[in-house]
Amino acid sequence: MARAVSCFLLAVLLSASCKVIISSDPMCIEKEANKTYNCENLGLSKIPDTLPNKTEILEFSFNFLPTIQNTTFSRLINLTFLDLTRCQINWIHEDTFQSHRQLNTLVFTGNPLIFIAETAFNGPVALKHLFLIQTGITSLEFIPGHNLRDLESLYLGSNHISSIQLPKSFPTQSLQVLDFQNNAIHYLSKEDVTCLKPATNLSLNFNGNDIKDIEPEAFISTVFRSVNFGGMADLSVIFKGLQKSAIQSLWLGSFEDTNASDLSPAVLQGLCEMSVESINLQKHRFSDLTSATFKCFKRIRELDLTATHLTSLPSGIEGMESLKKLVLNVNHFEHLCQINAANFPSLTHLYIKGNVRRLLLRDGCLEKLGKLQQLDLSHNDLEAPDCCSVALRGLSHLQSLNLSYSEPLSLQSQAFDNCPRLELLDLAFTRLPMRAQQSPFQNLHHLQVLNLSHCFLDTSNQYLLTGLPSLRHLNLQGNQFHDGTLPRSNLLQMVDSLEVLVLSSCGLHFIDQHAFQNLRKMRHMDLSHNNLMYGSIEALGHLKGLYLNLASNNIHTVPSHLIPILSQQRIINLSHNPLECSCSNIYFLTWYKENLQKLEGSEETICATPASLRGVKLSAVKLYCGITAMGIFFLAVFSLLLTILLFFAVKFLLRWKYQHI
Ligand SMILES: *[C@@H]1O[C@H](CO)[C@@H](O)[C@H](O)[C@H]1NC(C)=O
Ligand SMILES: *[C@@H]1O[C@H](CO)[C@@H](O)[C@H](O)[C@H]1NC(C)=O
Ligand SMILES: *[C@@H]1O[C@H](CO)[C@@H](O)[C@H](O)[C@H]1NC(C)=O
Ligand SMILES: *[C@@H]1O[C@H](CO)[C@@H](O)[C@H](O)[C@H]1NC(C)=O
Ligand SMILES: *[C@@H]1O[C@H](CO)[C@@H](O)[C@H](O)[C@H]1NC(C)=O
Ligand SMILES: *[C@@H]1O[C@H](CO)[C@@H](O)[C@H](O)[C@H]1NC(C)=O
Ligand SMILES: *[C@@H]1O[C@H](CO)[C@@H](O)[C@H](O)[C@H]1NC(C)=O
Ligand SMILES: *[C@@H]1O[C@H](CO)[C@@H](O)[C@H](O)[C@H]1NC(C)=O
Ligand SMILES: *[C@@H]1O[C@H](CO)[C@@H](O)[C@H](O)[C@H]1NC(C)=O
Repeated sequence: MARAVSCFLLAVLLSASCKVIISSDPMCIEKEANKTYNCENLGLSKIPDTLPNKTEILEFSFNFLPTIQNTTFSRLINLTFLDLTRCQINWIHEDTFQSHRQLNTLVFTGNPLIFIAETAFNGPVALKHLFLIQTGITSLEFIPGHNLRDLESLYLGSNHISSIQLPKSFPTQSLQVLDFQNNAIHYLSKEDVTCLKPATNLSLNFNGNDIKDIEPEAFISTVFRSVNFGGMADLSVIFKGLQKSAIQSLWLGSFEDTNASDLSPAVLQGLCEMSVESINLQKHRFSDLTSATFKCFKRIRELDLTATHLTSLPSGIEGMESLKKLVLNVNHFEHLCQINAANFPSLTHLYIKGNVRRLLLRDGCLEKLGKLQQLDLSHNDLEAPDCCSVALRGLSHLQSLNLSYSEPLSLQSQAFDNCPRLELLDLAFTRLPMRAQQSPFQNLHHLQVLNLSHCFLDTSNQYLLTGLPSLRHLNLQGNQFHDGTLPRSNLLQMVDSLEVLVLSSCGLHFIDQHAFQNLRKMRHMDLSHNNLMYGSIEALGHLKGLYLNLASNNIHTVPSHLIPILSQQRIINLSHNPLECSCSNIYFLTWYKENLQKLEGSEETICATPASLRGVKLSAVKLYCGITAMGIFFLAVFSLLLTILLFFAVKFLLRWKYQHI
């Protein structure tokens, strides 16, 4: 305390001397000492000498390395990840990576490669991911692959490759991803695909190739994890090639600029000839949509019909018991009953996001979906007067409901009482007009996560959150509080099981010391983007081990009696506050530097005052709050004056006393 008082006095009376120490910046950004460096876009034509030999992860894109050879990276033998995107590399010489046994990922995206030496990749036997996107490759013979035994992913997008036939010596047994997006592949033969047989868990991407023909049964040889034929105009060609194939996930979506022909029941007949678990047909158009369209969807578990111009699904589709997940986003339904939910009795996941028209939630349209666990109705203009009890009738197993980004929804009391198992409710960015004292969330005994961000809530309604005994995660971001104050009695008193609370951007100026007194299980508290000053920190006195975000507030100083409250937390973000770097704040500044391991965002935690230190990182400030020569002079003069004053006062007093005897 004595030190605090003297320091305060000194700050007021004396001139403090300040000295700033900032380390000189190296050219490359050090992200993790001796390990991760970013040298992007520095116009470098060699590896800088400042990089330590131990460097493991190097981001070196947008530099200038027209040729690379055995000396270029020879010093950095422990490299695991090397990104050389757009370095104008033309030549990769013999043994360039000879000593890089640990190299795992190599990125050559956007380099106009002219030559790769046969022994270029001889060293990195552990190479798993190779990116050769936009490198001008026309043939797979160009890639010396014979040594890449462990290669898992090979990205070859945006080249001029016309044949997928890998060289005989190319090891394929570990391959998981083979990406041929946007090449010039027009024909696939059985032989091409047979080469891939050793890869048993392969994802193959032919997106954006103009495939004109595939040999019938070309894909018969092996089981694929996923195959992507996005942007194909004529799916009957694809189905012919996929006869007797086994594919877990088949992506056949179309794009805006694809001139795709309509899908008729005859075309979709092809699906009966193969085995597929999950299929995506986004942006296609169905001609002749009847229950016959779905004849060959019977074994499918996941169906994505995003933006397929649907106004309704036919009723009486039979045999869809396998379907677990149905995606109907961005379609043209008028009311929810038009999806004819009774066709899909086993559904566990249903997504109807961003419906193009206003969507009327009629009573009980989803009633037959007793197994439904997840329902996403976000980004909709929902018409649901007195939401949502009757609209959600029958959804007794629903666990997650997303009503975010909707037009205003007026919630009735106990609005979700038909979904007693609800664990997650997302109402973010949906205005929720409500009568005072109402509690729409009552009786949700299992609700754990409630997102009410930007809902224009009436935060003075203390009953808003009643009946949520299991709530762990509450997001109230962007809702305003009366007078910018979180008072002692507030809506949070009802939810004492909270562990995560987001109160960012709530316009808060002040939090009462007892506002959080019921919250004893908190782990994560986000109070960023408010106008809080140090006084509100007192409300956290009873909480320990928090992740505490106080970024972008109005904290200038933190007095010494509040520092223990910060000390007992786990991680603190104090960035973007107008912090004072003078001797009056020396306790906080000292604590800050001793606890850097707790503080996140220290790059953005900078001094605002005094002017001489504005913009300097707190961690780099060195303050000497000692007495200077000038200070000693003033202190001496001050003490002298005080003594003289005292002397005269005593003299006067004594004289006065004697005169009155
Ligand atoms: C980085 O390497 C240098 C030299 O080997 C060593 O002195 C230093 O302690 C290392 N730093 C870290 C954080 O490992
Ligand atoms: C590379 O890593 C190994 C094992 O981690 C270590 O023994 C060796 O010293 C490192 N090499 C360099 C040049 O730092
Ligand atoms: C690089 O290759 C040249 C020519 O083959 C050779 O003389 C030299 O020793 C190699 N350098 C390294 C570091 O291996
Ligand atoms: C880094 O490696 C080079 C070549 O392998 C060697 O000459 C140099 O002494 C090493 N530097 C350090 C700091 O170990
Ligand atoms: C199959 O490949 C995917 C990547 O496409 C990977 O995430 C998954 O772990 C792989 N599964 C097996 C069993 O190797
Ligand atoms: C789209 O395809 C149809 C026939 O399939 C053709 O008549 C039409 O010209 C094509 N349109 C464009 C823009 O390519
Ligand atoms: C709800 O939907 C919105 C918009 O589609 C999305 O951003 C959000 O992550 C979803 N919520 C959950 C819990 O998945
Ligand atoms: C609402 O919060 C949940 C939980 O943090 C999150 O998963 C979801 O994405 C959020 N919704 C939106 C629209 O951001
Ligand atoms: C600190 O908090 C701010 C505001 O929420 C955020 O933007 C920033 O990313 C955080 N800093 C770190 C290092 O996470």
